[in-house]
Amino acid sequence: EHICQRATDNKLSCCLSPFLCLIAPHQQFDYYNSLLINEKDENDNYVELGDEFILEPNEHFNNLLVNTTYSDVQLPTNVYNKDPDILNGVYMSEALNPIFVDNFQRDPTLTWQYFGSSTGFFRLYPGIKWMPDENGVISFDCRNRGWYIQAATSPKDIIIVVDISGSMKGLLMTIAKHTIITILDTLGENDFVNIIAYNDYVHYVEPCFKGILVQADRDNREHFKQLVDELQAKGVGTVNKAVLESFKILREFREAGQGGLCNQAIMLITDGAVEDYESVFEKYNWPDRKVRVFTYLIGREVTFAQNVKWIACNNKGYYTQISTLADVQENVMEYLHVLSRPMVINHDHDIIWTEAYMDSSSPVLLLVIPAPSCRRFWRSHGILLGVVGSDVPLRELLKLAPRYKLGVHGYAFLNTNNGYILSHPDLRPLVGDSDALTTVVI
Ligand SMILES: *[C@@H]1O[C@H](CO)[C@@H](O)[C@H](O)[C@H]1NC(C)=O
Repeated sequence: EHICQRATDNKLSCCLSPFLCLIAPHQQFDYYNSLLINEKDENDNYVELGDEFILEPNEHFNNLLVNTTYSDVQLPTNVYNKDPDILNGVYMSEALNPIFVDNFQRDPTLTWQYFGSSTGFFRLYPGIKWMPDENGVISFDCRNRGWYIQAATSPKDIIIVVDISGSMKGLLMTIAKHTIITILDTLGENDFVNIIAYNDYVHYVEPCFKGILVQADRDNREHFKQLVDELQAKGVGTVNKAVLESFKILREFREAGQGGLCNQAIMLITDGAVEDYESVFEKYNWPDRKVRVFTYLIGREVTFAQNVKWIACNNKGYYTQISTLADVQENVMEYLHVLSRPMVINHDHDIIWTEAYMDSSSPVLLLVIPAPSCRRFWRSHGILLGVVGSDVPLRELLKLAPRYKLGVHGYAFLNTNNGYILSHPDLRPLVGDSDALTTVVI
């Protein structure tokens, strides 16, 4: 069935599916940008990408001001809102709008429905007005959210190997630390992680975690972030020992059937490698290349870039150079595209339930489905277009266990595959001063 729509220049274009539909680059195309809607310039005209967007309070959405006719589109500040890739993606995802509306009509218990694109835009239904933070910045990037990452990649075992030799002193170390923290933020409860720093010796940033991988849950991630912050650069770097150590841990975990049992990767963060260390890779990773090696070259210097690039390219990884703090986010996300590729190629886009989180007042679960690009491209490219999802309030799930069926002293509770309690009559969620959700069992 073809989906046709009329662009603003009145040209009609038809798409084979919501995901196979492109606009010609010359075509002008406007969309409701959730930051710019209802904004006017000094002449009282609506700003570009703005326009009038009627919002009404809706009880079903916690009395927020929403528009149930249209979804609208949010972009983080660092993504250009008229980038051709964004325009194309926003345009083709417009076909989701009638689907969102229809879903909501058919099931009025549904709450938020959305599409997070791999290009960085976030289409949300019902449409809302998005407010920047106190600095005028929109930092929300759907691609960094746990639900997006959990759906876009399968569970992963990751060892972050960071160079703390003398040459990394100063700004390079700051960028390296920021890179590690950004990588940690891409991990969740289904992933396993460890961090190894090296100069003349191999140091586990947490000595208690020597030789193992730990679950990348919130506690461990926060603990690692504190330790990484204390790292100091000195001495001479010997990357081969650290990489060798990482291969050993990953192999032990794999052979013991522990860890994520899916993807394994080493993230090497350095300002250059004097050799390519071929013998290490030959001995521990070839010919199967079970472990991918992603390399992040920190700084502007490219003298030793060649070896760093060689390491990534010969171990099914990806090489990126990070010269400034502003580059970190976008460059780190690249590895997720690589890891999401096999999922797309294998047609592996099952429904995924994420961790529970708080939606202003009541806990909800997210139901997300990765949206691979059209079939035609699967075999050759395997590009992930994005992730579609819908929030499911926990109270809807609990309705499946009505009191009268449980008996006088019976009660229902929910447990995740990771052993975390999602819902329990004595579980009282507390929302702290950060965006963190802490749960306390009394
Ligand atoms: C949503 O906004 C559009 C554009 O302003 C408007 O035509 C429509 O009536 C609004 N829908 C609702 C339910 O308010």
